Amino acid sequence: MNQRLDSFEFNKIIAAILIALLIVKAADLISDRLIEPKMLKVNAYKIAGVSPTAEKPPEVAKKGPAPLEPLLAAASVQQGETVFKKCASCHTIDKGGANRIGPNLYGIVGAPKAKRVGYTYSSAMGKSEGTWTLDDLNDYLYSPRDFVPGTKMSFAGIKDDKERVDLIAYMMKESDSPMPIPKPKEPTK
Ligand code: HEC
Repeated sequence: MNQRLDSFEFNKIIAAILIALLIVKAADLISDRLIEPKMLKVNAYKIAGVSPTAEKPPEVAKKGPAPLEPLLAAASVQQGETVFKKCASCHTIDKGGANRIGPNLYGIVGAPKAKRVGYTYSSAMGKSEGTWTLDDLNDYLYSPRDFVPGTKMSFAGIKDDKERVDLIAYMMKESDSPMPIPKPKEPTK
């Protein structure tokens, strides 16, 4: 008789444990429904330097200047003249203008690199070959020290594409034989 009672008690204990587990699971399910955690799309607090959208980190800042041609057609020579004020502490750009800290830049677009008469270039710039093509100028003015490592032109560069291209359009004009504005390249599909 003892034996039977024991197994009866044992069954009751098992049943109690099962019911307890069921209740816990049920409570879990219900509370999930009630509270339904949701990821915020936008951080409630803005943190400096951190994109407020939680989905994707901002694209890594693209490297290098934008291609020149598409921008050049719409460039403003007048605004480029204003941008040139950033250069005027070191450069003149009028015909026959003096070399200052940097060489005179009249007619520099399309001209041979580092060949201004009466100016002493750094050895880095002095070794440059070829002419100042629009693309080279675009790269150089984006970041002089990346394009000509060791240049003594201590200028950080112009990262704003519109500013830089306006400036280039202005520099193209300051010449005896201004280079024509190239047509945007047909997109290759
Ligand atoms: C702090 C003075 C300084 C400023 C500002 C400066 N430059 Fe220069 N630039 C120089 C010097 C110095 C050189 C000669 C570099 C060398 O020899 O390494 C130079 C060289 C150049 C050359 C190459 C000239 C050649 O004969 O091949 C170009 C083009 C040029 N600068 C354009 C500009 C433009 C455009 C700006 C304005 C956005 C500018 N620079 C701002 C000092 C400056």
